[in-house]
Amino acid sequence: MPAEQKQNSTAVSAQTLSQQQGYADLVRAVLDAQYARTPKAFVHTYGCQGNVADGERIKGMLEAMGYALTERVDDADLILFNTCAIREHAEDRVFGNVGALKNRKAENRNLRILLCGCMMQQPRVAEKLRRSYPFVDIVFGTHVIHRLPELLYRNLSTGKRVYELPDSDGVIAEDLPIHRDSSFKAWLPIMYGCNNFCSYCIVPYVRGRERSRAPEAILAEARELVAQGYKEITLLGQNVNSYGKYPDTGWNFARLLRELNAIEGDFILRFMTSHPKDCTHELLDTMAACDKVAKHLHLPFQSGCNRVLREMNRGYTREKYLDLLQYAYAVMPSLSVTSDVIVGFPGETYEEFLETVSLVKQAKFTSMYTFIFSSRPGTKAASLPDPVPKEEKSRWLQELLRAQEAIADERTAAMVGREYRVLCESVAKNGRIEGRTQGNIIIEFPADPAVIGSFRTVRVTESLIWILRGELTD
Ligand code: SAH
Ligand code: SF4
Ligand code: F3S
Repeated sequence: MPAEQKQNSTAVSAQTLSQQQGYADLVRAVLDAQYARTPKAFVHTYGCQGNVADGERIKGMLEAMGYALTERVDDADLILFNTCAIREHAEDRVFGNVGALKNRKAENRNLRILLCGCMMQQPRVAEKLRRSYPFVDIVFGTHVIHRLPELLYRNLSTGKRVYELPDSDGVIAEDLPIHRDSSFKAWLPIMYGCNNFCSYCIVPYVRGRERSRAPEAILAEARELVAQGYKEITLLGQNVNSYGKYPDTGWNFARLLRELNAIEGDFILRFMTSHPKDCTHELLDTMAACDKVAKHLHLPFQSGCNRVLREMNRGYTREKYLDLLQYAYAVMPSLSVTSDVIVGFPGETYEEFLETVSLVKQAKFTSMYTFIFSSRPGTKAASLPDPVPKEEKSRWLQELLRAQEAIADERTAAMVGREYRVLCESVAKNGRIEGRTQGNIIIEFPADPAVIGSFRTVRVTESLIWILRGELTD
């Protein structure tokens, strides 16, 4: 099959998208008749940046239907939670927050409550909602986001609950309306879904099969972002290193990075997440050679023990991971590496956990996201014996954090006296400006908030626990 045809196999058709525009107009007409003012929508997204990127499209569609976005749940005529299923705790929070809406709905029958995202894609969650949360109006899955106008119209015109949760390998919907949360930092999904089936992980079940966007669509979106003045573009995918494989676009991730790097303008490129099994020397060389690509690599290792890595179905060994890091630091001496790790995988022993501690000491990560294993129903790891009690796992986690803290302190202390170009992002509670280095480290410094959204140079003057302070030098 020609590459072009293959690329379109998961694409949502132009006809479907124009039908949805028709529904959006119908929703707008219903809202105009119902409200003598602009109705307001509150959208909250849980989970990863991929979900945040979906949330920005959901907000765009709601605006296109006539809603104004609000940050205040009290004001809202429509409340939407875009949920995450990665750990049990994430799900518990959503159930708690949805439960709290019951009274609000009792007081205001016109309030619409919508739930979508990864959690909804699990039948046990949908059943629980159907049974115990009748005040939820619309529940929809990760594969039908582009059909939100149709679903909302169906609910508004019939008053009936709408559950739209097709099981699907997934689609790619281009050109949806979008409301970006920031005017200078943008998320740019390059692929969706995941085929890796790490044994602990729910993502492949709730997000469908891995599928890459066409390179032309990604490049066009990036060019538009740069033209609009965006200063940082983060490429998103569960495993960006396998970009272009499904469908075969004829491009790999390194080529995509090179082409994006060639776009004229003052901006930086980030990407996440890299999977070590698909991280190549070509990619690391490309990072090193591309001036706009931030010298930051988020490369989750999950465990330092080969037996556990095998049980996790990660597809690499401790040795392969450390070799990759060695090569990466050799070609990019200023590289900052961050990672994810799971403590207490079922059957992990204390001795095996200590191999994770030793990897952390060797790898010298800038920072780490640490998670205690959370059993996800339906995954392979959920059926493994898990004899170590949670309290014990928490103690292991503390031990790991202490080891990493010493390393992070050393790394940040070495930054004192040096200058860094940062993207000024926000005002801290203490009134200072927070800027982010290429290496994804925040430096605080006194400056006028007008600097937000621009690149400035900062000299680091002191390193405190968790925070670096500095001063502008340009
Ligand atoms: N695709 C990325 C990870 C996305 S999920 C990758 O493969 O690196 C983000 C992180 O959540 C994972 O890296 C892992 O550390 C953690 N995680 C995923 N499932 C988990 C589970 N069941 N329990 C605890 N942590 C989990
Ligand atoms: Fe989950 Fe593994 Fe896919 Fe990452 S690569 S999303 S951890 S299954
Ligand atoms: Fe969560 Fe779904 Fe992302 S499970 S981490 S929101 S892909």
